[in-house]
Amino acid sequence: EKGTYPHFMLKEIDEQPFVIRKIIQEYQNENDEIKLDPDVRQAMMDCDRVYIIACGTSYHAGLIGKQFIEKLAKVPVEVHVASEFSYNMPLLSEKPLFVYISQSGETADSRAVLVETKAKGHPALTITNVPGSTLSREADYTLHLHAGPEIAVASTKAYTAQMAVLAILAVDTAKAKGIELEFNPMKELGIAANAMEALCDQKEELEQIAADYLSTTRNCFFIGRSQDYYVGLEGALKLKEISYIQAEGFAGGELKHGTIALIEEGTPVVALATQANVNYSIRGNVKEVAARGAKPCVISMKGLDQENDAFVIPQVHELLTPLVSVVPMQLISYYAALHRDCDVDKPRNLAKSVTVE
Ligand code: M6R
Repeated sequence: EKGTYPHFMLKEIDEQPFVIRKIIQEYQNENDEIKLDPDVRQAMMDCDRVYIIACGTSYHAGLIGKQFIEKLAKVPVEVHVASEFSYNMPLLSEKPLFVYISQSGETADSRAVLVETKAKGHPALTITNVPGSTLSREADYTLHLHAGPEIAVASTKAYTAQMAVLAILAVDTAKAKGIELEFNPMKELGIAANAMEALCDQKEELEQIAADYLSTTRNCFFIGRSQDYYVGLEGALKLKEISYIQAEGFAGGELKHGTIALIEEGTPVVALATQANVNYSIRGNVKEVAARGAKPCVISMKGLDQENDAFVIPQVHELLTPLVSVVPMQLISYYAALHRDCDVDKPRNLAKSVTVE
């Protein structure tokens, strides 16, 4: 039920802080320790490499998950688009663990890989919003997203939930391996949830940004470096899928290798600046595109913000910025679609779960 909301997408965007708090609750015991299926913990301990398989938005969550698992738990991770995996099956490590990320748990492209890797005897963990789904039933283990039903075709709360669960999984593995961490995932996720809530209260400002930058444009580029690049990919996917604006995400450093040729007078370029170690470089990219006529829309994080940034998100732990920086992207896409009279919840040519290969 949409309740008083005009669209499921807007309702689901607003639900995100509550979903993150629910995840904290579900994955914590009474001693404030991580509560996770011991078999999943063992599978993470036993593997020598994680292969994340997913599509669309879930693939984008996987890119962030790789950062969590490699940086915190020190386990190597590869992330693959499911539909490409079988043709280009990499040389597998000796003890691979396959992790399927899927909101619906019904995505045929991911299932095809699951069937193939199960047949080879490799263990599988599914991270899904639907525990009884095909991918969940056919895998050895499941981690539940607890996001509640996601109805809008454009995935929002499942994406942030996937990243939250991946962060918890990474920290749990690190702890099981005896790695000392300063990062307290539940505390930091709580801070991120509060920040997300604050952003959900800034809809008018974000609607204005959508009006200023996106109401009449033909295309839009998203640039970022490091984690911001991955969030840019997700921002671009949101925008193209519901507003039909041609949108592409690029690594800031790649601009000069070709993409910058696309910049024309007035081209909107959404630049993410939430990572201290790349702030200088991404700011350089913003100057480069501005010098060629682009209309930069910088979304930065407090502490790294500069005069003329279009929007500033609250400060959160640098690992968790994607959970927060994606919220303005989702809302900008939503309002852009609305201004352009698009069917926000049911964009053309798309289905909520893609059950054909
Ligand atoms: O249910 P899944 O997470 O497996 O779905 C994967 C993609 O089809 C899905 O994320 C799609 O890209 C969304 N419509 C994006 O908003």
